[in-house]
Amino acid sequence: MKKLIKNGMICTESQVFPGDILIEGEKIKAVGTGLADPDAEVIDASGKYVLPGAVDVHTHMDLQAGKHRAVDDFYDGTVAAACGGTTSIIDHMAFGPEGCSLWHQVKEYHRLADGKAVIDYGFHGVIQHVDDSVLREMKEIAEKEGITSFKVYMTYDFMLKDDELLQVLNQAKKDGIVIAVHCENDGVINYLRKKYTEEGCTQPKYHPLSRPARCEAEAVDRILHLAAMAEDAPLYIVHLSSKEGLLEVRKAKASGQKNFAVETCPQYLTLTDSMYQDDQEALKAIMSPPLRKKEDRDALWQALSDDVLDVVATDHCPFNYRIEKQAGADDFTACPNGAPGVEERLRVMFSEGVVKKRITLPQLVKYLCTNPCRMYGLYPEKGTLLPGSDADLVLLDPEKERVLTHRDMHSAVDYTCYEGMTVKGDIDLVMQRGKVIVKENVFLGQKGDGKYLKRSKSILAE
Ligand code: URP
Ligand code: ZN
Ligand code: ZN
Repeated sequence: MKKLIKNGMICTESQVFPGDILIEGEKIKAVGTGLADPDAEVIDASGKYVLPGAVDVHTHMDLQAGKHRAVDDFYDGTVAAACGGTTSIIDHMAFGPEGCSLWHQVKEYHRLADGKAVIDYGFHGVIQHVDDSVLREMKEIAEKEGITSFKVYMTYDFMLKDDELLQVLNQAKKDGIVIAVHCENDGVINYLRKKYTEEGCTQPKYHPLSRPARCEAEAVDRILHLAAMAEDAPLYIVHLSSKEGLLEVRKAKASGQKNFAVETCPQYLTLTDSMYQDDQEALKAIMSPPLRKKEDRDALWQALSDDVLDVVATDHCPFNYRIEKQAGADDFTACPNGAPGVEERLRVMFSEGVVKKRITLPQLVKYLCTNPCRMYGLYPEKGTLLPGSDADLVLLDPEKERVLTHRDMHSAVDYTCYEGMTVKGDIDLVMQRGKVIVKENVFLGQKGDGKYLKRSKSILAE
């Protein structure tokens, strides 16, 4: 079955040009002007941008986090992603039982996702302790499962200490694996959480005060030095939120450190800590790292504009405001951390980024589509519109407007952080491997249609 997308404005990370795309089966067959094929079904894209399907490399579907479980399973969460123009995700695994092998969560995540995901999906492994078998399993899992990235945490219960981080980075350097890192200084956070609790300062507004920007900056600086000590091991810093953290990134880039990439998220680019002023609204934004100030937001946009950051992913980790989030109403330390965002990302970034001229359209494609695939071994199969690539794409109408509201969204969660935000530009159609899976915000795909993505090596590990 062939499809021909006619007269669109084709967007890549390097240019925007008028043209057509011919699709045969699951793949892009040709990109050009004046393409014709009598056997192809024609999709008129006049006046629309044609983008590669967006790729979200930081989601937490069905995440068990302490007492609470994220409310999107791999079906609801990927339907939401699809309706937001995302055609592939790479999900971060939850921690497994203490002392478990790395294979434990690999098996668990196949159980959670296989047969449910509606878009293509892969996993990042998680390392929660270090010993010889864990270090051996990294390579085994990369080779057998195509899981070529593993995440480590510098805070939370299963954080790694500096010596463990260094061992993991040394191993990753040898095996060509990327280490994704949640950077926050655990000691300072624990001290501040205890101090605020003892002083009776337990309202949600104390959450950001217990995780100051310098906690992030110190951990970013430390992990960059550790990666440098491991001969510039492949490193990916997740969810950068602050101008102080950014300063450390800029310093490392200026020093010539290689093989590292940095991600930020739409919430750190568009929302601020003013959300913590109201005790109830604050619960919606209890996430780690927390929302920061306007200066941080502006610094992150500037870094995107300067090509200093590499990826914009969501950290989608939804808990219901009316249920799970209320655990933090009187004690922020009891609130599950995380917020939804997988469905909002492309619309918010197009409107707040491209329409407001903070980034260009090619930069949007780079940050949401192409670079995520390069960093995590999916390029050029995904993240671009080249002949031979998967026919994953989005038709976006720049003239349409939408008021974001939870009522029109597809996640199982009961709120959006962007309620009432008017976005310019809307998604008309989403195609996954040649099949239309979303039209005008209606999901048309099938449960289980997502394909498991065995990934190759990252460009950070070449
Ligand atoms: O608050 C957040 N971000 N929750 C999800 C887990 C993580 O730290 O990425
Ligand atoms: Zn994190
Ligand atoms: Zn996360």
